[in-house]
Amino acid sequence: MLSLMKQILFLFLLAVAVAPPPAVNGQLKIGFYNQTCPSAESVVQKTVAAASANNTGILAGLIRLFFHDCFVRGCDSSVLLDSTANNTAEKDAPPNHPSLRGFEVIDAAKSAVEAICPNTVSPTTAPCADIVAFAARDAAALSGNISYQIPSGRRDGNISLASDANANLPSPLSNASTLITAFAAKNLTADELVTLSGAHSIGVSHCSSFRNRLYNFSSSSQGDPTLNPAYAALLRFACPFNSTSSGNTTVAMDVLTPVVLDNFYYIGLKMSLGLFTSDHALLTQGNLSAAVDDNAWNPAGWAAKFARAMVKMGSIQVKTGTQGEIRRNCRVVNGRSLANVGPAAEEQGSSLVADM
Ligand code: HEM
Ligand SMILES: *[C@@H]1O[C@H](CO)[C@@H](O)[C@H](O)[C@H]1NC(C)=O
Ligand SMILES: *[C@@H]1O[C@H](CO)[C@@H](O)[C@H](O)[C@H]1NC(C)=O
Ligand SMILES: *[C@@H]1O[C@H](CO)[C@@H](O)[C@H](O)[C@H]1NC(C)=O
Ligand SMILES: *[C@@H]1O[C@H](CO)[C@@H](O)[C@H](O)[C@H]1NC(C)=O
Ligand SMILES: *[C@@H]1O[C@H](CO)[C@@H](O)[C@H](O)[C@H]1NC(C)=O
Ligand SMILES: *[C@@H]1O[C@H](CO)[C@@H](O)[C@H](O)[C@H]1NC(C)=O
Ligand SMILES: *[C@@H]1O[C@H](CO)[C@@H](O)[C@H](O)[C@H]1NC(C)=O
Ligand SMILES: *[C@@H]1O[C@H](CO)[C@@H](O)[C@H](O)[C@H]1NC(C)=O
Ligand SMILES: *[C@@H]1O[C@H](CO)[C@@H](O)[C@H](O)[C@H]1NC(C)=O
Ligand SMILES: *[C@@H]1O[C@H](CO)[C@@H](O)[C@H](O)[C@H]1NC(C)=O
Ligand SMILES: *[C@@H]1O[C@H](CO)[C@@H](O)[C@H](O)[C@H]1NC(C)=O
Repeated sequence: MLSLMKQILFLFLLAVAVAPPPAVNGQLKIGFYNQTCPSAESVVQKTVAAASANNTGILAGLIRLFFHDCFVRGCDSSVLLDSTANNTAEKDAPPNHPSLRGFEVIDAAKSAVEAICPNTVSPTTAPCADIVAFAARDAAALSGNISYQIPSGRRDGNISLASDANANLPSPLSNASTLITAFAAKNLTADELVTLSGAHSIGVSHCSSFRNRLYNFSSSSQGDPTLNPAYAALLRFACPFNSTSSGNTTVAMDVLTPVVLDNFYYIGLKMSLGLFTSDHALLTQGNLSAAVDDNAWNPAGWAAKFARAMVKMGSIQVKTGTQGEIRRNCRVVNGRSLANVGPAAEEQGSSLVADM
């Protein structure tokens, strides 16, 4: 008995010993810019709405941009940094290049925010990381009428490595256990994996991401037998076997409702219309496919879960308080080592003060 208590005490002390130090940095808050820049969120929203009026597809791009930012070094806008002479950045890694889009929209939103709330000695502007999160939220509202508030206060990172993108972003060839592991590594549950995959209800994919299912699939089958045959024929037509011209070809990911962010992704999955091996994988494991069923039958329930999961994804490894920096140009770190990279660098002196 005594020894059991000792063990419990020991485990307790161990837990205390390995517990992280108390957070010295702030938490994300809804309305973080209420005082410093009250129009920040509405200015981003207007920029996203204008970009969407020009090109609807950009909404899908912005939602994916948020996912790819948060899964690599946390939601710190590292995905926006350009490669330099001695560094290949995340955005140039195969999972992002050339398919990831929306960078110009974030640049425009950042400029619009800076125009009303400058990044001076006492910066009032929003870091790029929050702008990415706001833009994804606005894109979900515009493409799916899914509205939610997103807490803010994220700061920008200054490291962006292509190797991190390759290591953290799941491949479209993934099976169920690989997907679950990739999401668990970001503290997202298997249910949240299924919920967030519903984003594949909008947007497009290049042929390279699903070609594995069309040709030379296995020794016994030219195509993936779990892909709807009529759909497979359509995809083969769009993406011919040895055509050199299909490199830029894209197809809608949800053939049922391609431009509306809704639960038809799950209905499509059940009809073997999921585009990627990774989409179909959600039907191959009991728990996941039960969640697919729930979402297929309950559009409002899925939309509510999607909003919650986007907020949770937006909290992955965030930098807050005095961590990180507030970039002035979302493509370039403010730091000294990259001083010779354009107009943003000229005001570096004040930015170093501002970043304290
Ligand atoms: C579960 C693991 C996931 C895998 C393996 C995956 C993979 C992919 C791939 C390969 C593409 C097409 C890229 C191309 O070839 O053009 C794509 C597109 C897209 N993904 Fe995912 N994805 C996953 C999860 C997510 C999540 C969690 C979100 C957001 C919440 C998301 C949002 C999107 C969107 C909106 C597009 C369309 C982008 C556009 O039209 O520009 N994906 N995804
Ligand atoms: C900002 O204002 C909104 C609306 O009044 C409120 O819900 C939110 O808590 C405020 N946030 C902060 C950090 O003051
Ligand atoms: C409009 O969209 C096209 C691509 O569809 C893009 O090339 C162009 O820069 C966009 N214009 C504006 C003002 O956003
Ligand atoms: C990148 O190269 C520049 C000039 O060639 C150098 O000043 C800088 O320190 C290098 N940065 C890193 C991270 O190696
Ligand atoms: C959008 O959702 C709200 C409730 O969240 C609803 O009242 C409204 O009718 C919806 N709008 C459209 C166009 O579906
Ligand atoms: C899933 O894929 C991983 C990586 O390719 C592989 O190691 C694993 O055996 C696969 N699991 C199943 C159940 O097929
Ligand atoms: C996941 O949660 C654990 C425990 O709260 C934490 O230590 C870890 O940093 C989190 N990981 C991510 C990627 O957020
Ligand atoms: C299919 O794959 C096999 C094994 O990788 C290869 O030998 C064969 O040439 C491929 N066939 C076609 C049509 O690409
Ligand atoms: C595609 O490749 C196959 C096998 O190498 C060849 O038989 C066929 O003629 C090629 N088709 C075209 C359109 O080039
Ligand atoms: C794909 O698009 C890029 C950029 O617009 C262009 O340089 C390239 O030639 C295109 N490739 C093909 C195969 O059409
Ligand atoms: C299935 O879901 C239950 C309840 O959410 C969970 O306890 C269990 O670990 C899950 N099993 C797998 C294999 O994911
Ligand atoms: C990145 O930020 C860290 C911590 O704030 C700092 O030590 C480092 O010098 C910065 N690097 C660059 C290239 O700005």
